[in-house]
Parts: sequence; C-alpha cells; structure tokens
Amino acid sequence: MEKLVIEGGRPLSGAIKIHGAKNAALPIMAACMMAEGTAMIRNVPDLSDIEVMLDILKALGCRTDYHQDTVTINTSTAHSHHIPESLMSQMRSSIFLMGPLLARFGKVQVYQPGGCAIGERKIDLHLSGLTALGAQIEEAGNTIVCTAKELRGAEIVLDFPSVGATENIMMAATMAKGLTTISNAAREPEIQDLQNFLNAMGANIIGAGTDTITIEGVTELTPCTYRIIPDRIVAGTMMIAAAVTRGNITLENVCPAHLTSAIHVLKRAGVQIAINGDIMNVSCLTRPRAVERIVTSPHPSFPTDLQSQIMVLLSLADGLSILKETVFEGRFKHVDELSRMGADIRLDLNSAFVKGVPRLYGATVEATDLRAGAALVIAGLAAQGTTVIEQIHHIDRGYDRIEQMLSRLGASIHRVTPVPSE
Ligand code: EPZ
Repeated sequence: MEKLVIEGGRPLSGAIKIHGAKNAALPIMAACMMAEGTAMIRNVPDLSDIEVMLDILKALGCRTDYHQDTVTINTSTAHSHHIPESLMSQMRSSIFLMGPLLARFGKVQVYQPGGCAIGERKIDLHLSGLTALGAQIEEAGNTIVCTAKELRGAEIVLDFPSVGATENIMMAATMAKGLTTISNAAREPEIQDLQNFLNAMGANIIGAGTDTITIEGVTELTPCTYRIIPDRIVAGTMMIAAAVTRGNITLENVCPAHLTSAIHVLKRAGVQIAINGDIMNVSCLTRPRAVERIVTSPHPSFPTDLQSQIMVLLSLADGLSILKETVFEGRFKHVDELSRMGADIRLDLNSAFVKGVPRLYGATVEATDLRAGAALVIAGLAAQGTTVIEQIHHIDRGYDRIEQMLSRLGASIHRVTPVPSE
C-alpha cells in the first residue's frame, strides 16, 4: 500500500491554489441525472470519491468524461435506477443519487451505506424526507427500493440539520408537484452551491444557506455549465498546517466567508490571518495559544471536518484546550495515533482535553478516515523527525495529491509506492 513519508520541522511558505469542493461536486454530479443531455461541471477536484461517482453514473448508463478540472456528464443514455452494491460500498455519498433517480425514473435501488470510521451514519432522515414527498420505501436486508408514481411537495422538518438529507430532499422536491419547505435545513455552503446549480438548470429554489429552504416544483430541467465553489475544508487544513509549522503561506481561490468560524478559532490561537478577496495570508511565528473551548456543530459553527486537524494545533499550543465533537459519535480515531507522536490528550465521552506539549515526534502511524489522515499529515509536518503515514487512500478521497500541495509550500513530504512483488 502507498505511504506518505514526512520530514518534520520545516515552516511552510509560499502560495497554493485551493481546489474545488468535494462535498459540493458530489451532490451536483448526482443532480445532473435530473436533466436529459450534457452538463459540464468545472473546478472538480481529482479525487477517488469523484472517480467513484463517475463510475456510478456510467453504471447507470451515462457517458462521462473528466479532463483537467472539468467533468462532462451526458445523461441521455441513462437507463438504470439501480446503484451497484459494489460501488455503493465504496462511497456512502452514493446515497445522493436517491433524490435525482426518483425524480428521473420514479424508482431507485440502493443499499444501506452502513457506518464508517467516524460513526453510524444513519439515513433515516433521507428516507423519511423522501417518504413525505410521496415515495414508498421497501427495505429487505440491506437493500432499499424506493418508488414514487408521483412526487408531491410537502412541509418537511428535519430532526437534525443533516447535510445529505437536506440535499437529497432538495433534489427530489425540485421536480415534485407543488411547494416543498425544508425546516431545520443544513446551512453549509455546499448546499447553497447545489441550489445555485439546480436553479441554473431551471429549478425554483430559495433559502439555501438559511434553516428554511423553499422549493417550487418544476416539470423539466435543462443541463448547464457550472463552476464548483472552493473546498473550505482543504483551505482550513492548509491554514492549520501553516500555523503548526510556524509558517507563512498564501492561499488563492478561497472563499473566506465559508470559513468564518475556523478563522475566528485560529485567531484566538494567535494565528495571523489577512484576507484580500479570494486570497488569504496565514502566518504564526510564535507558539499557538490554547483555545479554552471549541465545539463542532453544523454550519456556521466550527466544522466537524476540521476537528481532527485543529486538535493537532491544540496539541502543540501553550496550555489546556477542550475540543467537543457533537456531530459524529466516533470521530476521535486520530487521538491514539497523535498520542503515539507525543500528544497529551484525554477523552471523556465526546470531549477531548488537550494539554499542549512543546513538540511532537515522528512515528509510523495509520490513517483511519479522511480527516484523521489529514491531521496525521499536519502532525508529521510539525513533528521532530520522520513520520510515515499508512492507509493513505483515505486521504486521497478528499485531497488532490496532498503531497504536491505541501511540497509546493516547502514541506519535505513524498509518496512511497511499493514495487509490486514478482
Ligand atoms: C456530509 O456528510 C459531508 N459529506 C461530511 O464530510 C460532513 O462531515 C457532514 O456532512 C457534516 O458536515 C459530504 O457532503 C459528502 P450529515 P453527511 O447527514 O451528509 C446523522 C468529509 O470529511 N444523521 O450532516 O453524511 C449522522 O449520523 C465528510 O468530507 C442521521 O442521524 O452528514 C451524523 O451523526 C465526512 N440520520 C450527523 O447526522 C440521517 O438520515 C451528520 O450527518 C442523516 C444523518
């Protein structure tokens, strides 16, 4: 298996461009299924999750192409409503195809995506929302068959502002008959991007970014060309990497308004951040300060997808910090590995008590999930000595060649690909 090898202790410097947002591209690629014809999506990052979504669209009968950062999807030949279990098991985000396939074909067959390293990842809110729109759901074993003779608008209230459920319901409601309102909707920027894409195809949606989204159903959508927003989590990851290495970097193609809470936390830790449009300069020339209390929760609060990464900064900060994870019940798998590098972290239910230490030490560690892997990269950049990270396929799901991004910023990091044995 491939590994990343990092020589720590080098302050990051220089400038990089931030690539497009994985969590915007995936639902938007799925939404292409709702319009017959060819859509062109620009600024799509080269990630394994994107490859899987393209494989699923091909399995459904679409013709796809991916050249540089542009994905082309021709859905004219789409003929299937059945998402192969083998592909579904590779990426739980395949669940985003339920709404579009119901809207296009009136039927969809998927499989329980199951839990993962960070939690149970239930889909009950997706299913109850689609049921409210008139879908019938039959579950047998881990197979789910969803049918709808006609999707009708409804008033839906989410028990929890689930990102995926908000997106799936939005997409199904786009072509339902009548008006749909989603209350307690998720407010993430990726949902606003999906609304803008759907409206560019002829949908009639308002309110994304707030907790109430209103969708007036339409009968037809037309494919379009669209550009994905920058990836706020990749940007946040690079900001934290600059901070822990006492570096000074410039990030281009960022949307600071998508990172307000992360910027606020980093400034409380003593990180200098200067914003000029879509360019952000990040530096931290002294030891970061501890942050008394950080709580992850749905946007616009501190994002759970930066929790593992900020824990590395807190591990090196001067003092005691408390980091509480309220979105996923199992998102502390990186703590054991950070402790092996010298971090001083005590867990108590969903809170981590992080006592800053003067330095971390290189070690051979294992990525357990996407953002935990990113956190280990950050720790390796800051650590004294050599860090080897295994199971890096997790990282490739959400970062486009992370070693190239960081090498451009002066890091000593390279990917080791084992020679297949004869
Ligand atoms: C999206 O996942 C993101 N993935 C996640 O990013 C992100 O961490 C998450 O939103 C929260 O911001 C994509 O957009 C592809 P949720 P999603 O539904 O939609 C519970 C990354 O690192 N829940 O908001 O699956 C669920 O168990 C990934 O890029 C239900 O109980 O997140 C979890 O505890 C990781 N029932 C919480 O809600 C449901 O029907 C948040 O889940 C759905 C969710």
